[in-house]
Amino acid sequence: MPASALMNVMIGAARKAGRGLTRDFGEVEQLQVSVKGPGNFVSAADHRAEEVLFRELGKARPGYGFLMEERGVVAGSDKTHRWIVDPLDGTTNFLHGIPLFCISIGLERDGEIVCGLVYNPILDELYTAERGQGAFVNNRRLRVANRKNLADSLISTGIPHRGRSGHERFLSECKALMAGTSGLRRTGAAALDLAWVAAGRFDGFVERDLKPWDIAGGLILVREAGGYVSAADGTQSMFEGGSIVAGNQAIHKALLATLDGIGKVAGPKNSVSA
Ligand code: IPD
Ligand code: CA
Ligand code: CA
Repeated sequence: MPASALMNVMIGAARKAGRGLTRDFGEVEQLQVSVKGPGNFVSAADHRAEEVLFRELGKARPGYGFLMEERGVVAGSDKTHRWIVDPLDGTTNFLHGIPLFCISIGLERDGEIVCGLVYNPILDELYTAERGQGAFVNNRRLRVANRKNLADSLISTGIPHRGRSGHERFLSECKALMAGTSGLRRTGAAALDLAWVAAGRFDGFVERDLKPWDIAGGLILVREAGGYVSAADGTQSMFEGGSIVAGNQAIHKALLATLDGIGKVAGPKNSVSA
């Protein structure tokens, strides 16, 4: 399926910013062992990537607005379109020389995401989706995994770290997921988690306290790969509330039920012995 003109704009911008990130990632691997460490350099790399994306997307569609992680909101003359961009998702991985990071771009039209792109320049995996057109990685069609039982499923999640709230809630949710799944993973890049659900690598993904730029590019990948995405309460308030649950229909449902069941007293029928 050939990409639309709009998607080609997104691909061009992402590849250009991706070349810069790849160069900078090579540098980080050197800085890792230096006394000063790579911290400031990584934040400069992040800003450089955002600059490229802002410039390239703005040049191709001058009126569109932006919501970018570093710049924040940039209003456009076209009030119906907005790019939602994370120039570097997986910053901590990048900082540590771990090649799991990506660029994420979502295009919102009248409040709905209609195009999404997630690009890992190191693995050279370019995930794209347009509403109604399916999801692809490097032009290969994607389909979410087919597992029906949560017990057989590999679920990705995000772990709140120092300075973030929700540690206790995470621990109780993690406990329930540990007991109910075949494994948990933490990639450190929410946009990649969604792309990997779309690709069937993960059966599902659960995280809280995310920002719109973490998920805008990836959520349409999951949907166009045949999956389901919602907030943890089952509504579509992912951007407002920051939580996200994704998977095929059965796993999405089972994940919502698992989260909903936490803290509720289990009756004799549901009780599980350790
Ligand atoms: C982070 C990643 C991570 C998630 C964090 C995000 P950043 O984004 O997506 O997986 O757990 O909540 O902030 O800071 O690397 O762009
Ligand atoms: Ca992010
Ligand atoms: Ca980021």
